[in-house]
Amino acid sequence: MHVHLYERIWMGASGAIVAIFLATIAVGALGQGLRPPSHVETIDPKAIWTDPRFAERGITADPGGGVTVTGILMMFTFQPNEIRVPAGKRVTFRFTSADVVHGFQIVGTNGNTMVVPGYVSQFTTVFEQPGEYLIVCNEYCGLGHHAMMGKLIVEAAP
Ligand code: CUA
Repeated sequence: MHVHLYERIWMGASGAIVAIFLATIAVGALGQGLRPPSHVETIDPKAIWTDPRFAERGITADPGGGVTVTGILMMFTFQPNEIRVPAGKRVTFRFTSADVVHGFQIVGTNGNTMVVPGYVSQFTTVFEQPGEYLIVCNEYCGLGHHAMMGKLIVEAAP
């Protein structure tokens, strides 16, 4: 069967694009630890302040040395606004929103999730490098969006 030269070029280019897209996913998933959100948990957005899951905001210790960070995002702040976690341990974040869609991004790490009213956003990660990290809201949420930030302090093991 004869395939015209131009047709072969286009077939090759189409195949290369597919290969590049798949490689992008592989690099993100394997190299950078990026994961799709997989935790589906709903919450009544009008009752988050009385919901027992969010009655206590802050950092609690897990069995095994890790911690869980429970918080609420609202215009235009994170509660808690300063988060201290241990380095090298599993840190689970659990957030919900009191008003509109917000983002929770820990700059320079793979910690990044949307926080949508009516849902609980949860992810677990490990911070190997002790230090101070900036937390920003990366979903436009109103006039104070640019000022919505917090701080993550990763403490080295004593
Ligand atoms: Cu919250 Cu932008």
